[in-house]
Parts: sequence; C-alpha cells; structure tokens
Amino acid sequence: MSKLDTETGVVAAETLDSVEAPVTWRTYAMCVFASFGGIFFGYDSGYIGGVQGMDYFIHMISGPDATKLLSWQSSLIVSILSAGTFCGALMAGDLADYFGRRFTIILGSAVFIVGVALQTASAGLVLLVVGRAVAGLGVGFVSAIIILYMSEIAPKKVRGAIVSGYQFCITIGLLLAACVSYGTEKFENSGSYRIPIGLQMLWALILGVGLMFLPESPRYFIKKGKVEEARKALGRVRGQDPNSPYIEAELNEIRANHEYEKRMTPETGYIGSWLLCFSGSVGLASSNVRKTLLGISLQMMQQWTGVNFVFYYSTIFLKGTGAVSDPFLMSLIFTLVNVLSTPLSFWFVERFGRRSMLLWGAIGMTVCEFIVAVIGVTVGFNHTHPVGDATIADNIPAVNAQIAFIAIYIFFFATTWGPGAWVLIGEIFPLSIRSRGVALSTASNWFWNFIIGYITPYLVGPEYANMQSSVFFLWGTLCAVCIVYAYFLVPETKGLTLEQVDQMLDEVSPRKSAAWKPTTTFASREEKQTTA
Ligand code: BGC
Repeated sequence: MSKLDTETGVVAAETLDSVEAPVTWRTYAMCVFASFGGIFFGYDSGYIGGVQGMDYFIHMISGPDATKLLSWQSSLIVSILSAGTFCGALMAGDLADYFGRRFTIILGSAVFIVGVALQTASAGLVLLVVGRAVAGLGVGFVSAIIILYMSEIAPKKVRGAIVSGYQFCITIGLLLAACVSYGTEKFENSGSYRIPIGLQMLWALILGVGLMFLPESPRYFIKKGKVEEARKALGRVRGQDPNSPYIEAELNEIRANHEYEKRMTPETGYIGSWLLCFSGSVGLASSNVRKTLLGISLQMMQQWTGVNFVFYYSTIFLKGTGAVSDPFLMSLIFTLVNVLSTPLSFWFVERFGRRSMLLWGAIGMTVCEFIVAVIGVTVGFNHTHPVGDATIADNIPAVNAQIAFIAIYIFFFATTWGPGAWVLIGEIFPLSIRSRGVALSTASNWFWNFIIGYITPYLVGPEYANMQSSVFFLWGTLCAVCIVYAYFLVPETKGLTLEQVDQMLDEVSPRKSAAWKPTTTFASREEKQTTA
C-alpha cells in the first residue's frame, strides 16, 4: 500500500500526506456540531454567579430578611457542581472505552437533564444541591468526552481549529448565562432563578439528539477490534466511500498504530489499565506517565492563569473600587472580549502551532497582569477612601487603565491558553490510554477551577487577606511559571495525525518537536516487520 523503502523504513512523502482524506464541508459540520458541548460548560459555570445575587433566590434559601446567602450556603451551591463534574469526568473515560464516545456524551446529556430538572423543581437548598451534583456528573461526562471525540474525528489539518471551536462555545455559554441572569434578576417570583436554570435543558437536548445522528469515533471501533464498523464510521466522518484509498490508508495507519501499542503494552486487568496511565519513566517525554502529567498539568496551569478570578469575581471586585458605575456591565464586557477574541485562535492554532501559542500567550498575560498589579500599588485599585457606606477610588483614570489591561489579558487568554489547553489534551495521549488521559486532565481542570473559586474570596475579602488588585502579582507570577512550562514541556502537535504525534513524542524532546517531520507511517513499520 505505502511506497516503502524496506531497507530504511522511510516512506514517500506523498504516502505520508495521503494518510488522510481532503477536508470536506460535511466533516466541518460534524465537528462544529460536537463543539456545541462547550455551551454546557460555560453556561453552567456562568449562571450561578447571577442567580446567587437575586433577591428572590436569597430569600428562598436564607430567609425573608437575608440580603445575601450565608457563606457556607454559597460555597456549597458553587462547589457541589465542581465536585460532580470532577467525578463525572473521571468516570467518563471508562464509559467511553466501554460503551463508546458518542453514547457517553448522549448519556451525559441525559444525566444533565435530570440534574437540571431537579434544580428547576427545587424550592429550597437540599434539592437544588442534589440537582447540581447530578447535573455536574453530566457536565463531567460531556466536557471530557467531547474533547476526545472531536480530536478523534477531526482531520489533522483543522483539528486544532475545530477543538478551539469547543472553547468558543464555552465562551458563548458564559455570555449567555450572564445575559439570561441579567434579564431575570429583577423578577420577584421563582422565574428569576427557574428560567436561567431550566433553559439549560435545551442545550442538552440539542447536543444529545444531534449526536444520535453522528457516527461513533472510528478509533473507538479499532480499539474494540471492529474494523468494518471503523471503516464505515471513518467513511462518514471523512465524507468518502468506505472503500476509497484514503479511507483504506487512514484505517491502516490507525490499526497499525494500535497493533504497535498493544505489542508494547502488557495485557492487564481493570486496575492495571488505570496504572498504565502512570507507567514508564518521568524523565522520558514519550512515557505514559509524562503524557498523563502533561495533560493534568496543562489544565492546572490553564486555571493558574487566574482567568476565572476575572469571570467569577470581577463584579464584586469592581464594586469595591467605587470607580465603576455599572460593575455588572463591565464584567459583561470582559465576557464579550472573551467571546470575540476566541475565533482568532482558530487561525493561530494552525498557523503558529500549539507551542508558540501557549508561549506567547503566557508572556502576554504575565505582562498585563504585572501592569495591573503595579498600577494598583502605585495609583490605582488599591487607593480608595470611604464616602458614607461606599468607597471611592482616588484615581479613576488609573483604575480605568487597570480595567483596560484586564481586558487585554482576557484577549491573550482567549486566543491562546483558553483553547490551547483543550486542543493539546486531545492530542498527546496514545489510543491505549487516551480516554482516561483526557478524563484525568479534564478532572484536573475542574479540580483547580474549584480550588481557585474557593480560595479567591479569602485572597481579596476585606476581612481576610484583602489583597485588592495586588492579587494580580500572584496571577502574574503563576503566568510567568506558564512561560517556563510551555518552553520546556509543551510539544508541537500541529499538522500531525494522532498516530504521528505518538511517533514524534517517541523521537524528540518538546523543545525540538516543532521541527519534527514524519518519515515513516505505522503501517509501513508493520509492513517492514512482515517483510523482514
Ligand atoms: C476554562 C474555564 C474558563 C473559560 C473562559 C476555559 O477554557 O477551562 O475555566 O472559565 O475557558 O473562557
């Protein structure tokens, strides 16, 4: 099949290129539809901030005289979702290997609908919390497996852009949540919280029903040994006849890679297969443990950039300066910058690659965050004086400059680390541990999301550390760590098939990865073995 030099194992360039069919509109449409799962993620993390500030909701949970929720209530309501998503993401890997990627996403949507129905029906804390835990499980399934599914069906040339579409949907979800809560916050009946909560069922219905019409991932079928099903599924996702030479070549490559990995990995039971994610030496970039740690740490670093500080707490934070007449509107502007800048990443990720994107993004964010922090300690945010019950900033232009740099910081996040972290976790794992690797990485995102959400009030609360905008020294320092991290540890995966990514990680260090070009295919290696 391949034009192989059996002496050297080197394959003709045209064979390497034709490992995949040309991209069709149908392929785009399928992948773009799958990215809709991002709406869950964004909306679910976005709506609760608004709902917690609604008078009707506060009175329902904390009593008729309450002006805000008690801290433990607020913390429970917010964090129970992360607990659910964390567990959901971890379980999802097993389900995706057992029942398939598509089924797990559909199941996630169904579980989510049950959770949302419980929350919508609730008229008190208990049912609401139970509902959020159940919905969280569903979001966990969906957020982990959508990435896996999209990475497995997307063509290599546009895989980065397509997975970035998922991030775009997260940003739209955040925006929608902010707008809907804004629209209903003044209602003096249960519609104030029931509408924003109940609306989410619509996203789940669209995703769940839509996926019933999409094919399963061909790589899942290969893992299960169902070659003919894999051929049909691949034909559908590539818009080709299942017996076309393109499909034949790509299928051969996926199969050969899987055979190769199976030969290299011992047969194990359930626990052993989890332990496989942590096998090999930490010093070796191609070992499973390194890939798993890379995925987990990528998502951790993405949270360490401090982005959710801006999305979860900017309204409260801006209120504290007294310099902004409508803090809600201002935080809506950050959300809008986030949505509008993300599409640029579709181009960045394929033009400059994942590695450069993360490196330059971290540099941009670090600079902005330090500027915000330095203005704060000299003339901005940290300088206020009391006027009656309120506080007024001493230097409003300086506060405005800080707000502008926070917006630029969001621009850098949205075009680089936002999508980049998701793109990479879909690409770095070999098929044998891919579903679990992606699941562990997604669980790490939710874990750190929770930790940051939990500690932030203590960092900025006047009765606690009261860091004000000096908190940006902390985020800036963590972003500086992201620069070093990206330089030493992030490989370039642009333009390679998932099987070629495996090969590249075997052969070069992350720093040399951008220059790596494939010279053999797994299919040709197998062919060479048979010939020998
Ligand atoms: C992050 C979220 C964040 C969102 C903002 C995602 O990639 O994982 O935590 O809220 O981007 O757009």
